[in-house]
This record gives sequence, C-alpha cells and structure tokens, in this order.
Amino acid sequence: MVTARLAAQPVTLDLGGQTVKTWAYGDTAPGPLLRVDAGDVLRVDVANQLPDATSVHWHGLALRNDMDGVPGLTQDPIAAGETFQYEFTAPHPGTYFYHPHSGVQLDRGLYGVLVVDDPQEPGEYDAEWIVVLDDWVDGTGRTPDQVLSDLQRAGGDDSMGGMHDMGGMGMEGMDHGSMGSMGGMEAMRSPLLGGAGDITYPYYLLNGRTAADPATLSAKPGQRVRIRFVNAGSDTAFRVAVGGHRMTVTHSDGFPVVPVPTDALLIGMGERFDATVTFGDGVFALVASAEGKQGQALAVIRTGAGRPPTADVKVRELSGKVLLGTALSAVESARLDRRSADRTHDLVLGGTMAPYRWTINGKTFPDTDPLRLIQGERVRLRFVNQSMMFHPMHVHGHTFALRGGGARKDTVIVRPMATLDVDLEADNPGQWATHCHNIYHAETGMMTTLSYQ
Ligand code: C2O
Ligand code: CU
Repeated sequence: MVTARLAAQPVTLDLGGQTVKTWAYGDTAPGPLLRVDAGDVLRVDVANQLPDATSVHWHGLALRNDMDGVPGLTQDPIAAGETFQYEFTAPHPGTYFYHPHSGVQLDRGLYGVLVVDDPQEPGEYDAEWIVVLDDWVDGTGRTPDQVLSDLQRAGGDDSMGGMHDMGGMGMEGMDHGSMGSMGGMEAMRSPLLGGAGDITYPYYLLNGRTAADPATLSAKPGQRVRIRFVNAGSDTAFRVAVGGHRMTVTHSDGFPVVPVPTDALLIGMGERFDATVTFGDGVFALVASAEGKQGQALAVIRTGAGRPPTADVKVRELSGKVLLGTALSAVESARLDRRSADRTHDLVLGGTMAPYRWTINGKTFPDTDPLRLIQGERVRLRFVNQSMMFHPMHVHGHTFALRGGGARKDTVIVRPMATLDVDLEADNPGQWATHCHNIYHAETGMMTTLSYQ
C-alpha cells in the first residue's frame, strides 16, 4: 500500500514572472506526484483547507465506484475543514491525473499526476519526464467561478474576449485518420478542431510555468526519454512538439498503442499521451501551443550547451504531421475482443452560447437521462456532435475502445459536427459520470451517467 496526503488549500504561486493567489494541492501546481505499482492499493487522505466543499476524482482509473470522487453521485462533498480518505486498487498501469469534481475548481490549479507503474514493463528508456499542460485564468482578477458566471451572463459574446468560431470552420479532409502533413509555416497553421474554446487565457503553463520563465528538462545526448503528457487545461487543447526531433507516441490514456512517430501531437483536455524522444546534443524547445488560440507554453530541453529559446520560439515541427488520439491503434494486448454491441447509446452533443449551456440529448445535467447498462454487456456509445465546438468526451471507471482496433482511451476528442463510436465492456458497476472535459461545458450541463449494478 502507498499512502499520501493531499492538502487542498489557498496558495500564492509563482508562475514564472507572475505571482497569483489561487488554490492548489500543497503549495505547487501541479500538486504532488503520486506513484503506485499496478495492483497496489493507494490510500490518500485529502484535507480540505479551502473555503468551499471539494472532492478528488482519479481521472482514467477503473476503480471502485465509491472512490471515484463525484459529489452527489459517489460520495458527499468534502466540506471545508474536513478530511476524506480515498483508498482503492490501481488496476492498470499508465499515466493518470487527479482533480476535483466540484464546479470549476480544476481551473484554479487543483490538479496533480498519478503514475501507475507496470512492475513487468521492461522500461526501454533512460529517463522520464512528466509534462503537465494548463490554461491559466487566475491572476487576471477573475476566478474561474467569475469566468463561468460571465459566460453565463454574457452568453459568450465577444465582450468575453473569447474565440467563438460558431460559424462553419471547414472540416474538409479531417477524417479519423492521420492529419497528414499540414505543411506551411507556423503563422499559417490551421486549427484542427473548429471552435477552439470559449475562453482566451492570459497564460499557458507547462509544469506550472509560463513561457517567460520556463522549466528546464535535462538529459544526456543520445538518451531516450519517455515523456508523459497530461492536459489539465479546462478549455484548451494543446499541440505539442519538440524542436528538431520527432516523438514516438507509445501510450494513450495509459494504454499502449502501436508506436507512431510524429512531428506534433494534439492533446485534448483530460487526455494523456506518452511519447519517447531520443535527443541530440544541444538545447531544444518543447512547445505546447494553445490550439486555435494565441499563446504557448514552453519547456527548455537541455542535453548540451546552447542558448535557451525565447518565450515566442517557433518550432517547425508544430506545423508538421499532427497526430490525434483517434488515429492510433491499440497493441494486441490492449484490444477489446471482437464482439458486437449488445446496446448502443446515442449521446447527442449540443449547445448554445446565449444562454451559455451545453447539452447531451437536449438536456443539461442533472436533468440528463442516465444511460442504463447491464453488467457484462458490450456497450457502444455513439457521440454525435451537433455543435461547432470540439468536445473531449470522458467516461469514468472504464476504458473504451475506438472502433476498428483503435486505441483504448477514456477521453477522446469529438470534432465539430462529427460522429464517433466507442465500445466498452460493462464490467465495473456503479454510477459513472460521463461528460465533456471542457470543465465549463461539463459545469453548464454536458454531463450524464452510465448506471448499472
Ligand atoms: Cu477528469 Cu469527470 O473528470
Ligand atoms: Cu464540450
């Protein structure tokens, strides 16, 4: 058993050239790294030192339902001043993260990474880096709660300073496969996702740092590094690339995929990818560009001598081949056995900017209809996106399979006006939240539950 303690508390953080008052786990964002072997029990005492009730959700883990951390569904909220003990077995190896499932608290900086190690894994790499991406709204005088109420009041019009590309962003050639070479220079980079998000953020962070004063990641020339990427942002997908290198993507949402080399990788909110990179000698930029928005986060990679990149560094790879999770294939051992679905549930994703609300099958949570399953059956979820915004859809307590031998995932980007099917095994009974991982979409209605005993 691994034990840990998380204190959710008000803090003052230095983001690199910028100090903000916010909430975090401990005195950093990301919070403490938790690490456990697959099959081990993790016990975490969560001390709520916030002025609000909170909760902790273990994003991506197929754990026991009463430890899933969703107030009103799987537990009572942890009241201000109280402590709650989470204890569960971590079933599958992989890269996961934890965050509150209470309002838009995630967007304050309450998040941390949970790595579940595979005691059997050969570990064919020399070093490991964890890279957590975030869009940072705090420090502008508005808290995420104020952003949410502004969105609800203003209906997301331009006074929000947001990018509301609700009009036909062309999706030509955007099939489920690889994007192919997008070509062109950084300035001409076309957004892959249509509506880029509802909020313009003042800062984008990589491991809690702005590009003005970025983190440094070190290795030796020739070393192969496993990078575990986590997008903890609330309204921003990131396009990541390493200057002068290609990445080989090896895992998606914890599960192994057939390795694919790529220039760049698109990571939706709540998605995780592991990639390996074998480094040359010098100083390189790891750039995470806010997809369809202005701004980027940065890390300095140092394997030798050289001048560090500037905050606005452009790396050519960002405009190269971009991989999405939907283009990956599961390795044999991570596939669901071929079986036809016993049941298909449609989840029609819709929304309006005025009033600002997001729906599943025309309803907003908690008025959405629970999706009823039967234990042991094979279930197909059909995400039908009828909006001009992309939605990273996340299912708790299960890992689904993309059709046709695609990756096992728990969070997947559904593009504007696209339909995407995922299959899962109903093998973990309970009440499981299923929602968009744009926290503002989830909070204004785009959430339902999978429900079975
Ligand atoms: Cu990270 Cu309900 O999700
Ligand atoms: Cu959404």
